[in-house]
Amino acid sequence: MSFSLSKLTGLAVLITPSLATYTLSDEYNSTNFFDKFNFWDTNVNADPTKGFVKYLPRDQAEQAGLISTTGTNAIMRVDNTSYPQDGRASVRVQSNTVYNQGLFLLDLDHMPHGCGTWPAFWMVGPDWPKHGELDIIENVHEASSDLVTLHTDNGCNLAKTGAFTGKPGNTNCAYQPGCGVDAANPNSYGINFNNNGGGVYATEWNSDALSIWFFPRDAIPADISAGAPTLAGWGPPMAQFYKSGCNIDQYFADMQIVFNIDFCGEWAGEANVWGASCSQKAATCEQWVSGTPSAFTAAYWSVRTLKVYTETADVAAHNSTAANPKLAAPNALFVEKPASGPAAEVSSSDP
Ligand SMILES: *[C@@H]1O[C@H](CO)[C@@H](O)[C@H](O)[C@H]1NC(C)=O
Ligand SMILES: *[C@@H]1O[C@H](CO)[C@@H](O)[C@H](O)[C@H]1NC(C)=O
Ligand SMILES: *[C@@H]1O[C@H](CO)[C@@H](O)[C@H](O)[C@H]1NC(C)=O
Repeated sequence: MSFSLSKLTGLAVLITPSLATYTLSDEYNSTNFFDKFNFWDTNVNADPTKGFVKYLPRDQAEQAGLISTTGTNAIMRVDNTSYPQDGRASVRVQSNTVYNQGLFLLDLDHMPHGCGTWPAFWMVGPDWPKHGELDIIENVHEASSDLVTLHTDNGCNLAKTGAFTGKPGNTNCAYQPGCGVDAANPNSYGINFNNNGGGVYATEWNSDALSIWFFPRDAIPADISAGAPTLAGWGPPMAQFYKSGCNIDQYFADMQIVFNIDFCGEWAGEANVWGASCSQKAATCEQWVSGTPSAFTAAYWSVRTLKVYTETADVAAHNSTAANPKLAAPNALFVEKPASGPAAEVSSSDP
């Protein structure tokens, strides 16, 4: 979708009340959740991040009680009774559906945490990193703030537009370690997130940007609760990867949605990372994960819903005022126009 503000100059247009039109295209909930994913199987494919983990196929995960549903939630947990030598049993699921753009709203009650854990909710294309990777919720051990990360081919950068509330980190998104933003929000991850009742992670993917918002349970915007998101009143995103630094259409395609719970491996198991947060537990991450099953009772995802919306009208909402100072002026305007055909300004003093 393309959008143009080429008629901006000289206009004094009222801000239209509805900035976006999104239509629900896909809903994952407790009635259908696991049917909409395929399961990574460690017996077939090793964990690419070398975790101390054994991802179970669906039937075994069900038998072991690692996946289940309640009337309202879908739950993915890890083994908390065994003393494995070859990796703790867990799950990694990838959506059957492949996405190109959209608005992804994840309503979560609980996320995994604890020393040794490395959970993630993310999206990834088929040919890494050419088709991109967006890590929406990810961190390790007992972290309390979410890290949003991109991994791409060469040439994509995090633009420090000032239009997002998180703290920019690395700006070069190519390969590892990628570029990212620290949520700098102590309720956005781990035990604090859970104790606070969880919340909604919203990800908007369009040609202008990848934008991520986090709303704690007591601050979920009404349009989300009503199932009719417009993005109006959401405020600036927590993280945003704007097209001025990264050509979104070039670097992201055909992404699947992934949930997993890994242990140790290339991040959580790295000696310095383990040493900085959890070395009082055991000498190494693997020792802890292998020898302390009951420590992993809290390592679970509890999902209310994951709703995917498709944008049905071109909007300026994502072209945030902060990224585009011209729009922050008193006579700021959001002009809504169809992708092609004549302009459809709702209200304009343009002669
Ligand atoms: C769950 O999602 C399906 C569509 O995928 C929908 O038909 C159903 O009404 C939803 N269930 C609830 C409880 O919202
Ligand atoms: C393992 O997890 C289950 C499910 O949360 C819990 O009921 C049980 O008490 C846990 N077992 C141990 C040994 O911690
Ligand atoms: C968005 O903002 C930029 C400036 O940051 C501006 O050049 C552009 O025309 C605006 N609209 C779109 C659709 O990018």
